[in-house]
Amino acid sequence: MKTKTIFHLFILLSAIFTASIHSQTKSYEKQIDSVLSLMTLEEKAGQLHQVSLSWATGPASPEGDKLKDIKEGKIGSVFNIRGSEKVRALQELALQSRLKIPLLFGLDVIHGFKTTFPIPLAESASWDLEAIELAARVAAVEASASGLNWTFAPMVDIARDPRWGRIMEGAGEDTYLGSLIAAARVKGFQGKGFGSVDAVMACAKHYAAYGAATGGRDYNSVDMSERMLREIYLPPFKAAAVAGAATFMNSFNDLNGVPASGSAFLMRNILKGEWNFNGFVVSDWASIREMIPHGFAENDRDAAKLALNAGSDMDMEGYCYRDNLKDLVEKGEVSLSNLDDAVRRVLRKKFEMGLFEDPFRFTDPVREEKAMNNPEHRKAARDMARKSIVLLKNDDELLPLKNGQKIALIGPLAKSEDDMLGGWAVGWDDNSDVVSQFEGFEIRFGKQNLLYSKGCGVSDPSKDGFEDAIKTAKAADVVVLSIGESRSMNGEAASRSNLGLPGVQEDLVKEIMATGKPVVILINAGRPLVFNWVADNVPTIVYTWWLGSEAGNAIADVLSGDYNPSGKLTVSFPRNEGQIPIYYNHFNTGRPSMQDIPSKDYRTGYIDLKQSSKFPFGYGLSYTSFDYSNLVFSSDRLSKDGVIDVTLTVKNSGDFDGEEVVQLYIRDLVASLVRPVKELKDFKKISLKSGESKKVTFKVDKEKLSFYNEKLDWVAEEGKFDIMIGSSSADIRLKGTIVYE
Ligand code: BGC
Repeated sequence: MKTKTIFHLFILLSAIFTASIHSQTKSYEKQIDSVLSLMTLEEKAGQLHQVSLSWATGPASPEGDKLKDIKEGKIGSVFNIRGSEKVRALQELALQSRLKIPLLFGLDVIHGFKTTFPIPLAESASWDLEAIELAARVAAVEASASGLNWTFAPMVDIARDPRWGRIMEGAGEDTYLGSLIAAARVKGFQGKGFGSVDAVMACAKHYAAYGAATGGRDYNSVDMSERMLREIYLPPFKAAAVAGAATFMNSFNDLNGVPASGSAFLMRNILKGEWNFNGFVVSDWASIREMIPHGFAENDRDAAKLALNAGSDMDMEGYCYRDNLKDLVEKGEVSLSNLDDAVRRVLRKKFEMGLFEDPFRFTDPVREEKAMNNPEHRKAARDMARKSIVLLKNDDELLPLKNGQKIALIGPLAKSEDDMLGGWAVGWDDNSDVVSQFEGFEIRFGKQNLLYSKGCGVSDPSKDGFEDAIKTAKAADVVVLSIGESRSMNGEAASRSNLGLPGVQEDLVKEIMATGKPVVILINAGRPLVFNWVADNVPTIVYTWWLGSEAGNAIADVLSGDYNPSGKLTVSFPRNEGQIPIYYNHFNTGRPSMQDIPSKDYRTGYIDLKQSSKFPFGYGLSYTSFDYSNLVFSSDRLSKDGVIDVTLTVKNSGDFDGEEVVQLYIRDLVASLVRPVKELKDFKKISLKSGESKKVTFKVDKEKLSFYNEKLDWVAEEGKFDIMIGSSSADIRLKGTIVYE
């Protein structure tokens, strides 16, 4: 009875809440109408014009024009400025304009603001949605206190190609996991909603299919079937929209011949049509103008016309809208209703963000000071960082390190602070608050137990430092060798054709291994690298990505055993570049590879390479071990409206407490279209004390079995489905079959 009453109360409160949202939305619509009715065509175009500003105020500087434009109401949003004072000063300029429409302030707050969190790909390896949401929340608290109300994140592009430098910005190769992470990040950034002063608008980018750039070359063309688009690449965008993402950003690529910034199919039909998105779309940096070199638009004017008509609402640093929209509307080439729709969308977000009510609500220096120096933020960053680390090998159980061992920390990345931040970190003049690996080790293991030698540079061909490195290794009980890419090798315009360890680093590893000392390898990178010699010859390997401000502490936590690693790869690691794209959820061919050996057996694969990945999706070790048993289905027949409970027991059978990501995959055995050999459909991250067992239950319903059929309908087809439970996509521990009928 009591529960029922609480439930009814809950329903009542929800109804009141929903009604108040609706009335709020309504009242904004009226206010938007009245603002719109006062605007000239030039002012409307201005709202759709966004500029990057780096704060040079002299009237003769190029920025001088931008400041003048702000005062004249010809700019709707500014980005790349931060700091409550600067934002306040610019907002004051905007309020000198005729209609006093406040500006939106954006920035690429991708993985933290002042406190840098791990790169998004690393965070995804935690499979910890709460921690990921918290990371975005902390970033929003800091960014909003610094005057910002908009971040160009999350990047939700599915990526199956580690050559692509931007793979670091996303959540890996899997659509299901990527969708959950997209929603978690949106929620984190937008917090309790736009009424609150520490929420920033999220921006789901890059819409769409940017991650499928041909050859992994940034900005490159994408050609794919609509079925593939809808099944693999769009769901994370849809999840972001459903989670309430305020904005979307166009991608640079063309999709099947149409540049995304000019794609009515993507923006009008799918995003604003099917998904009923009420936010706005911003172009990527000058991507509207870039339709000219694409060969899709003749000139700026044509580009503006194509983009606005297709549904791109705001022109980022493109100047096509500012200079052409008035004329285009006057000549009837862009309809007033299309223009008004775009302006309305931008104004709606300004109202929702509370900027009309108080344009300075994000510019409180006291709040800023507090947010930039909050120890809780560092704590969250350290927790996120250690959860992001993936233990690839621990064959000799060298890890965790024993107390009191003398450690030689060697390698080009061991003392780096800057690199730890990874690509797309917000730039600050001083990175001294970043905990390098050396500093983290000093704190945890003690100065007296730590030796250091650089050995070599990241890409430098010199071996001059080898001798000292070898001497240092010999003087220690154990060597920790920190190698990898440099930070600048990831991110935008940083695609690589060769994913090997740059420079002479592999030679350094060989020399150090030759000393006979036990070696732990740390691989620092923003993508899966190819490191076969190391993988085959060094028994202990830890993948540390770029972990942000707390990198050194987090790595020390894992190496010391203060934290038992629990990260699992969210992207397949290739054996070499020729194997790319490689992803676990591929189709079977008519001639599937039967054994994982290179051979000319007239089956799918290579005559010179194994078919499998080097390290598979979902893979990652712990200091303990987990046994899976007792798979029970509540029924082996699933009806249309039914649910099957899939239950199993997981036991921590090792000596350490630890966490395991239990993964559920399905396979549709026979369908009207070929289906993947495996698809992740659920997972649970559980924590188990040494010796402890836990029951894990998954629910399987028809949604988990559904896919886009040939007509692009989302359907579950009758028939048999394998249900597989694994510790990785390649380590299926339990399996059964159900029938959907
Ligand atoms: C990137 C976007 C980014 C924008 C603004 C572009 O070059 O592709 O991801 O948000 O710049 O900095």
